[in-house]
Amino acid sequence: MIPRISTLAAAWAALVATAFALDATPSTTEGPYYTFNSGQTLDTSWLVGADNDLTLVTGKTTRASGTRFLLSGTLVNTAGTAISGATIELWQADNGGVYYYNTSAGNNTANRDSNFQSYGTCVTDSSGNWSFRTVHPGLYTGRIRHFHFKVNINGSTVLTSQFMFATDSASFSSDGVASPLVAAGTMSLVTLTVSSGIDSVDNATAEIAAKQIVVNVSTTSSSSGTTTTTGTSGTSTTTTTTTTSSTSSTGTSSGGGGGSPTLWAALALATAVAGRAAVKRKR
Ligand SMILES: [Fe+2]
Repeated sequence: MIPRISTLAAAWAALVATAFALDATPSTTEGPYYTFNSGQTLDTSWLVGADNDLTLVTGKTTRASGTRFLLSGTLVNTAGTAISGATIELWQADNGGVYYYNTSAGNNTANRDSNFQSYGTCVTDSSGNWSFRTVHPGLYTGRIRHFHFKVNINGSTVLTSQFMFATDSASFSSDGVASPLVAAGTMSLVTLTVSSGIDSVDNATAEIAAKQIVVNVSTTSSSSGTTTTTGTSGTSTTTTTTTTSSTSSTGTSSGGGGGSPTLWAALALATAVAGRAAVKRKR
């Protein structure tokens, strides 16, 4: 019996999809210092839905200490299709290696940079672009430098991972998070190669890196850019749901919080060569 043409076409499409599927960005541990985890005792209300400029805390005029870092990329599924409306969360140590986290976990919060936002969110645009203005993460005992991030689609976290730096490759095998990825052959998917440039918001010298995040989902859009965070504020445990609207490319933040990638993400890599990056100003 000769197979139907539609059956053959479907089989061929499946074969092609498999052959050309992108490798998914590997997941890693969340680590102990996620801003909204159940052990957090600091007030996190001011960080719910925080925007994508971690160098400037709302209401302050002095930017964070440290080397400026423009981090951007695209979010796609394994078929290579852009995912819009997804919320990317980024959290990291400040220039001195301190997280916004309570001291009971061994993190010296008293010494943290109060001008550093420590956590931010960005909602991917229609092309899957995301971006953050931040600082080069500081070093703390037991780890190589890294950014933590989560990808949230339709209110669910579909990926928790970390970006690390090519310049630390000699230490990958001795780092507890990097070494399993090296063994699995996936380390390159979370390794950042940094170039230098200028942040046009204040002409600061900046490090610039772009990376594609690939998630193993079939969806190509998130309806509302919704993130759900659970944590504590003071002594009472709270669960907060933040809804941010999908972003436009006008350079303004979305109304409900969360930064817009605008043209920043799209231009960061392209302009790295030229030495200038287009970034948005914080309102
Ligand atoms: Fe960490």
